[in-house]
Amino acid sequence: MSNHILKCISCKKEFDPKPGLYYCESCGYIMGTLEVIYDYKTIKKSSSVTEKKFDNKASMYQFDFLLPTKPKGKFDDYVGGTPLYKFNLLGIKDVLVKYDGSNPSSSYKDRASSIAINRAIDEGADILFCASTGNAASSLAILNAPTGMRTYIFVPASIPAGKRAQLEISGAEVMAVEGTYDEVYDVSLDIGLKKGWYCRHAAINPYLLEGKKTGAFEIIIQNDFVVPDYVLVGVGDGTVISSLYKGFWEFKEVGLTDKIPRIIGVQAEGIPAIKEVFDKGKPYTPIAIIGKTIADSISVGKPRDVIKACTYIEACDGYFISLTDEEILDAIVELGKETGLFAEPAGAVPYGGLKKLIYEEKITESDTVCLVITGNGLKDINAVEGVINTESISIKDLEKRFE
Ligand SMILES: Cc1ncc(COP(=O)(O)O)c(C=O)c1O
Ligand SMILES: [Zn+2]
Repeated sequence: MSNHILKCISCKKEFDPKPGLYYCESCGYIMGTLEVIYDYKTIKKSSSVTEKKFDNKASMYQFDFLLPTKPKGKFDDYVGGTPLYKFNLLGIKDVLVKYDGSNPSSSYKDRASSIAINRAIDEGADILFCASTGNAASSLAILNAPTGMRTYIFVPASIPAGKRAQLEISGAEVMAVEGTYDEVYDVSLDIGLKKGWYCRHAAINPYLLEGKKTGAFEIIIQNDFVVPDYVLVGVGDGTVISSLYKGFWEFKEVGLTDKIPRIIGVQAEGIPAIKEVFDKGKPYTPIAIIGKTIADSISVGKPRDVIKACTYIEACDGYFISLTDEEILDAIVELGKETGLFAEPAGAVPYGGLKKLIYEEKITESDTVCLVITGNGLKDINAVEGVINTESISIKDLEKRFE
């Protein structure tokens, strides 16, 4: 028997899980995204919660009492359990930095892909498909490579070379499509659902968020159950930020904490779709805008988890901000100088967001803050081409320099 039910975020109708059920048909695939709901009262009394035996370095499956599947994949022991560093940054002591660039495919998306693969195995699927700005696709392709199931990937042809290389090396069937992410998403969703493949598209599959929420669980246990005042994260489709809220909410619901942080979503000023919807206020109405940014992972004009993202961020008294491409590039460079961590553009935006909010005096030195760095900078080195030194030196000049 299943340990959860599914509930529509808009009409609140409840569903029993079944293969092929991804969203509430009456509300449609953007308004009708589904929440995965567990029996929190029973979980609260279970030994997994009461004994509080957690391990800062264990994989995300240590939280299986709040997950919709069990680990079965080759990589599952190594997904999650990523470091939570503390740095003195921008005048704030001990800023928490959750660095998910150290997952198997080097991004936060492995948390979701691992769950998708295990659910696909549960459901007897033999093909998985995914449209992505790059990271979700490379994550699925890599984690799925050893399972024997096939992977069909749909990405914009413009994705960074590092992510494309990950896809090709993993042996996935790669469709590098001449179009934007939003165009690729829609056409590939039609194809994949018609074919009956298992869907790993952001937001549509409610189980993806379940994997991603484990990042919040880890922030809590790794910080000795002290919940920070603020958590900042980059936002594209809105699933990662929604997952963080759900993770903090669930640990509170089962009595492991007594607080949910204010979560702040950081978007790119060139394409700030969720920010626009949130700032307009209720009823939250999905939009589709056209724009661009160097932060390819959050270059999303038609966000799919916009309803959850806005509803959850309102519930925790959070909000959305945006950064220019110049501010994003500065954030990558400064984060690297201050911490040694190399983040891809979408991974560095929480640092840029913190800098902005400190400047605006919305966050002060007495606040506790966590930055969620979602992707490794090595995936997109072209992004920093203009701001890193690429000069060389002759042997003669080198000897002269150190005479
Ligand atoms: C590195 C990175 N950060 C942030 C995000 C944003 O996640 P979401 O699209 O769920 O808002 C993504 C999504 O692709 C990503 O790859
Ligand atoms: Zn509905």
